[in-house]
Amino acid sequence: SRERSFIMVKPDGVHRGLVGDIIKRFEQRGYKLVGIKVIVPSRELAAKHYAEHDGKPFFPKLVDFLSSGAVVAMVFEGKDVVKTGRTMIGATNPLASAPGTIRGDFGIDMGRNIIHGSDSVDSAMREIALWFKADELADYEPVA
Ligand code: CMP
Repeated sequence: SRERSFIMVKPDGVHRGLVGDIIKRFEQRGYKLVGIKVIVPSRELAAKHYAEHDGKPFFPKLVDFLSSGAVVAMVFEGKDVVKTGRTMIGATNPLASAPGTIRGDFGIDMGRNIIHGSDSVDSAMREIALWFKADELADYEPVA
């Protein structure tokens, strides 16, 4: 159904100049960009974003990495964008991320994996509220 997903190009993706390609893929698939900002996340914001991983051995590195540089935080809207977005992103494990996916085309690293996408509609709502104020999201219909 029609829904929104939080999509974020991580510091490695920004540093490598992959932002345009990633936006292009979502646009071409038919998704509508309703929010976008460039931000260097604080450690506090990064920790909140990854709250579900708090306590795992890789959590400190996760927070360090996300707050290590600029990210491009985005909200895309459209039919089943949460699930389809995850498919377009590809698997976290580089051994499983298929060519044609963003991770499968651009990366081989479990941690520095270019992009984040919400894993459920509930996660999307939590993440969008964490990263964006309501008035930073545009409500519009595409021009015919
Ligand atoms: P993502 O799926 O966007 O969000 C959770 C992140 O945790 C994941 O990307 C990886 O970057 C990271 N991650 C998951 N499992 C591991 C792991 N075993 N070692 C290091 N990082 C991991």
